[in-house]
Parts: sequence; C-alpha cells; structure tokens
Amino acid sequence: MPDTQDNAAQIAYWNDRAAVTWTTFQERLDALFEPLTALALDAAAPAPGEQIIDVGCGCGATVLALADRVGANGQVLGLDISEPMAARARQRITAAGLTNARVTVSDAAVHAFRRENADLLFSRFGVMFFADPVAAFVNLRRALHQDGRLLCAAWRPLADNPWFTVPLDAAQAMLPPQPPADPNAPGPFALANPDRTLGILADAGWHDVILTRHDVPMRFAAAGQIEQATEFATRVGALARMLADVDPTMHARVRQAVADALNAYDSPAGISLSGSIWLISARA
Ligand SMILES: C[S@@+](CC[C@H](N)C(=O)[O-])C[C@H]1O[C@@H](n2cnc3c(N)ncnc32)[C@H](O)[C@@H]1O
Repeated sequence: MPDTQDNAAQIAYWNDRAAVTWTTFQERLDALFEPLTALALDAAAPAPGEQIIDVGCGCGATVLALADRVGANGQVLGLDISEPMAARARQRITAAGLTNARVTVSDAAVHAFRRENADLLFSRFGVMFFADPVAAFVNLRRALHQDGRLLCAAWRPLADNPWFTVPLDAAQAMLPPQPPADPNAPGPFALANPDRTLGILADAGWHDVILTRHDVPMRFAAAGQIEQATEFATRVGALARMLADVDPTMHARVRQAVADALNAYDSPAGISLSGSIWLISARA
C-alpha cells in the first residue's frame, strides 16, 4: 500500500485553490461536462438497487445522478480528498432529499474499503491524480465484489483537446517559457496515453479493460459571451495555476489573448471547442 503522504501535494491542492474554483464554478463545470457525463452514465449503466462508489466525486454532480438511477434500494458512496468540495456535495444531497447517498473525505488510493461489495466503481475525472496509480487501482478493486465493474472518464491526449489547448497556447505565447510537464505526473492527462493506462490497470489486476474514445463539445458560454468564456478559461485548471502569480498588466494581456483565441469559436450554438475523453471500463 502506498503511504498516504504520496498524495499530499494533491490533497493540499484540492483543499486550497482548486476547491475555491471548483465550488465557485460548480454549476458551470457541471454544464460544461453535461454531454460527456451522459455518455459515462450510459456506459456505466447503474441499475436500481446497486451499490456504487464514485471516486473523486468532487462537488457531487455524479453522486446525485447515480443515486437517482439506483433508487431507494441502492446506495452511492462518494469519496473525495477535498473537504470543501465534499461539503458542497453533501449540501446538494441534502437539498435533493436523498437518503441513498453519502460522501466521505478520504484518499481513495489508500481508503480502507471493508470489502464494500460494491457493484460499480464510477469516476468522472477523479482517478488521474494518484502518485502511485497501480497501487491505487489495486486498492480500488478491493471495493468491488468479484463481478464488480469499473467505469471512469479521463481526458485523452492534449492534442485532441482544443478546449484545453486553445486558451493555454494563447496564454503561453505571452508568458515566459515553462519547463515541459511530465506527461505521466498526477494531473488531468495522467491516463491519456492508452498503452500506459492499459498497463496500469493490467498491473493492478483488472480484467477486460477497454478504452473507448469519445469526442464531445465543450461549451464555454452562450453565443457572444466572450467575456464570460474568458473568465471561465482563465480561472479554472492549468491556466488559473499559470496565472496565479502574474502581475495585473500581464494578466490583462493574457486575458485579451485568450479572448481573441476564443472569439474564433463563437457560433450561434455558443462558444464551443472540442474535447476528447476515454471511457475506461474494466472488471474486478
Ligand atoms: C477534476 S476533479 C473532478 C470532480 C468531479 N468528479 C467532477 O467531475 O466534477 C478531481 C477530483 O478528484 C479528487 N481527488 C483527487 N485525488 C483523489 C484521491 N486520491 N482520492 C479521492 N479523491 C481524489 C479531487 O479532490 C477532485 O474533487
């Protein structure tokens, strides 16, 4: 088992700056992810009465959706390392009057699953942040009974995700060069390489691992709302991290560059760029 401190940097990140942005922009992120969430839920096929664990459940959108699908005889447990995001998820569970869902703050990589006997391990972008992914996926398999299944969504490579790279490239053109990022480091693209991901899951003992590509529209804002789209693009994720310490003059210049880049994607359907995900399915 990995030392829980292995994920200390992620625990700090998801309880600090990332928690602020993900709770502030929760509704817009959920709207942005709506098309791919529908695909992931359909592929996961949660059935009435099932026991489900939602790994890295964040502010709880998929906990609510899964709880709705499993009904009163089912149970959904959301796990997350972020106290503020878990708190938001709990508020939403209470507001929805759900009695079949709960959220626990815990590192899923080392969480002591007491042979939960779950049917399904689900995740929307919550399984790419493990310091030791093989050990984490070994641990996650313990949550399931022997016929249990995994369905998680993870980003495919950067090159197929212009919703991510278009604002980032526009910003990077204005900023000093950054050292190249380690493509396998914990982060949104850690499972993007299919060979590596298949290897991680095989090494962790999962069976029948299948990665299916899905390309989805990522709608930043309604038509003409460039300011809103730019705010969103610069305040969430990698760009927010990159801009955290730049001075106000440079910040304004970067925002303008991002706005100009997004302008090219404004259409009557909204300001929308393409995203590409893996739906990763496997059996315990
Ligand atoms: C990209 S966010 C996705 C949140 C949510 N699933 C959604 O789609 O809105 C990643 C989430 O994974 C959580 N996370 C990262 N590492 C984790 C770990 N080791 N155990 C549990 N949750 C983790 C973060 O706190 C964060 O809420």
